[in-house]
Amino acid sequence: MSWQLQVSKASAASGFEGALMSLSKQFDGLKISSFFVALALASFGHGAAHAEAKPDISKMPWMNKALSSDERASLVLGQMTLDEKIQMVHGTGWGVLRKGAPIPARSNFGAGFMAGIDRLNIPDINLADSAVGIRMAAYQSRYATLLPSTLGAASSWDPDSAFLYGSVIGRELRAQGFNMSIGGGVNITREPRNGRNFEYAGEDPVLAGTMTGQLMNGVKAQHVMSDIKHYALNDQETGRTVVNVLLDKKALRESDLLAFEIAIGISDPSGVMCSYNLVAGDWACENDYLLNQVLKKDFKFKGWVLSDWSATHSTVKAALNGLDQEMPGDDDHFGAPLKKAVESGQVPLARVDDMIRRILRSMFAAGIVDNPPVRTVVDPFRGLEDAQHIAEESIVLLKNADAVLPLKSSASNSIALIGSHADVGVLSGGGSAQVDAPGGNAIDPQFGGSVWGKPVYFPSSPLKFIRAKSPQANVQYIGGEDKAAAAKLAKSSSLAIVFVNQWMSEGHDARTLSLPDDQDALVEAVVAANPNTIVVLETGGPVSMPWAQHVKGVIEMWYPGIGGAQALANILFGDVNPSGKLPVTFAKTEADLPHPTVPGLDGAGKVVSDDRHHEVKPFDFKYTEGARVGYKWFDATNKQPLFPFGFGLSYTTYAYSSLSVDDAQRTVHFTVRNTGSREGTEIAQVYVALPAAANEDYKRMVAWQRVKLAPGESKDVTLKLDPLYLSVFDTDKNAWQLLRGDYRVMAGASSRETPLQATLHVQP
Ligand code: BGC
Repeated sequence: MSWQLQVSKASAASGFEGALMSLSKQFDGLKISSFFVALALASFGHGAAHAEAKPDISKMPWMNKALSSDERASLVLGQMTLDEKIQMVHGTGWGVLRKGAPIPARSNFGAGFMAGIDRLNIPDINLADSAVGIRMAAYQSRYATLLPSTLGAASSWDPDSAFLYGSVIGRELRAQGFNMSIGGGVNITREPRNGRNFEYAGEDPVLAGTMTGQLMNGVKAQHVMSDIKHYALNDQETGRTVVNVLLDKKALRESDLLAFEIAIGISDPSGVMCSYNLVAGDWACENDYLLNQVLKKDFKFKGWVLSDWSATHSTVKAALNGLDQEMPGDDDHFGAPLKKAVESGQVPLARVDDMIRRILRSMFAAGIVDNPPVRTVVDPFRGLEDAQHIAEESIVLLKNADAVLPLKSSASNSIALIGSHADVGVLSGGGSAQVDAPGGNAIDPQFGGSVWGKPVYFPSSPLKFIRAKSPQANVQYIGGEDKAAAAKLAKSSSLAIVFVNQWMSEGHDARTLSLPDDQDALVEAVVAANPNTIVVLETGGPVSMPWAQHVKGVIEMWYPGIGGAQALANILFGDVNPSGKLPVTFAKTEADLPHPTVPGLDGAGKVVSDDRHHEVKPFDFKYTEGARVGYKWFDATNKQPLFPFGFGLSYTTYAYSSLSVDDAQRTVHFTVRNTGSREGTEIAQVYVALPAAANEDYKRMVAWQRVKLAPGESKDVTLKLDPLYLSVFDTDKNAWQLLRGDYRVMAGASSRETPLQATLHVQP
């Protein structure tokens, strides 16, 4: 009798979707392979064999915690053989992500695995996708908290909330036995139809970089290694593995790369994941300019560069141009071929040592050697509380005509809830950011984990929580497919709340800004039947709203996470005063965007390529808008957005006054007053227009503060302006330059509402 592990996986075109593993008892001792024996042994006695082999750490000087991470890394490096070094610069393959791929014995069943060096007490690295919560929990019957989308969380403009977000991820990774997070997406929203915008932190490099940096600090505080991705210019999914992105260096440094620079500066992340696309003719994962010149030299990044999954294209070029680790590893550029290249002198050993030093240094710095993960049962209650708190700060109130909100539980005696499965749950984003729902997909519970390409709803029911807030009211739900029936229910109700959604995922972009599935027509039908209509959006990013003028209320709740329905009910009924503000511009129509169609879609709207497995020709695409991303584009071209960057309403009102600047200190002072009758938190924003010599036809968001105010209360706000955010990038000198001259400083409630203006004189 023997045990055999059968690794089976429901396959999908992309080959990424969650897998199923079943253990079966087999009675054929003859055929079992040594691989499966090893796998079975390690799986049943997880850690036991490993523990027996544990070396005597008292003889290992690098285990002295008093030494710096760099010193400890050098000491280990000095002991390593070339084979051990080669082992650490690549993963062991697709593992659980791909049907039939071998799973290493000690893998924790995450997206990636690097085998450690037992004799030197260097642990394995178990990496898990964890952009908005940990992926593939169902695979091992684990639980993972679904947080609001990262874009949603960026709407809080709250660095503490971002830190909390990272802490939840780090805490649960640790409890599940992982020691590295691969999340931390900071690609700015250059393309509002990008399928992954929900995993990123918005269009502004200062906001996105700050929020992502704080998020990573939250992860690291749990002794889990952190990662920032996808470096760089992977700003759309269409053609992501074939597009050669062109953007001039000045604009690149002042937009996309600035977000990375800020996030890296704040958090000293363990890893940076290079992206699938090409930049200026070279793959991002073998791009000397991006990796060596900018990331390692200019940003002084001390961690290691790991490739996106199968984004490594060469051995010698990639190694020399800055890639430190190939993932997931089975394309085999950094295994035997790298060893050969070292032996033949094509890649100096010093370069491989640099790779190892970076990896080891990050392991010691994050504490995964001294404080390895301890398996625990993930605390779902704490996760829910944290997710709900973040969601309450994330929800953005976009319209509130006739003060339709907050609802009073007695006033509305009949409420029609329409659409988006609001009876059972809230939507989540797909791809490698997909989290498995407890109990399975709320709209289609089935055996196993989430299926790639299929929208997953989490069991957080708006119907249930709205009913609980208003027990006397008659609250009824109807799906949105039958518009006439939905309109009929709306007509017979005192209020209609229409839920609309846009499901987004890695692997494809939205073709237009319109809501899919004729949902605009649904809203129009409902509002025609009952003008007392509120629309709640669950979208991955910005969408157009042709009905915005007709409805009374609009709430953007993004993908709100497992506490989404509670958070929404608290906002609707005024238990929580909304404070979120948009981290992205909402355009009225595609015609107002820099590119009316997504680059790579052909004239007929056909996708030239939407995932890596399609055989498509590489194509160049030049982002002619340069650094004018989002509100900067709308400012420069003098276009009126539907809802501007930085915009969001509250149930109270605020007034701004008394702006002054201190030239020597480069500080800005102003006063914000709560002029309404409720306590609230205002996100006060500071923008700056550079002197004429900068030749910029837009302003920049350079500072902000969340200001909590009781009714009638005033607070003075003082913000220090970071010289980096005021500087231009001089490509000749390859340096940031703070120009002498007059800077127009503006303060207010959004990018389009800056009532206060002053001049800052800069003498560098
Ligand atoms: C994604 C990464 C992800 C990796 C591993 C890739 O397709 O682009 O973000 O971390 O897969 O799942």
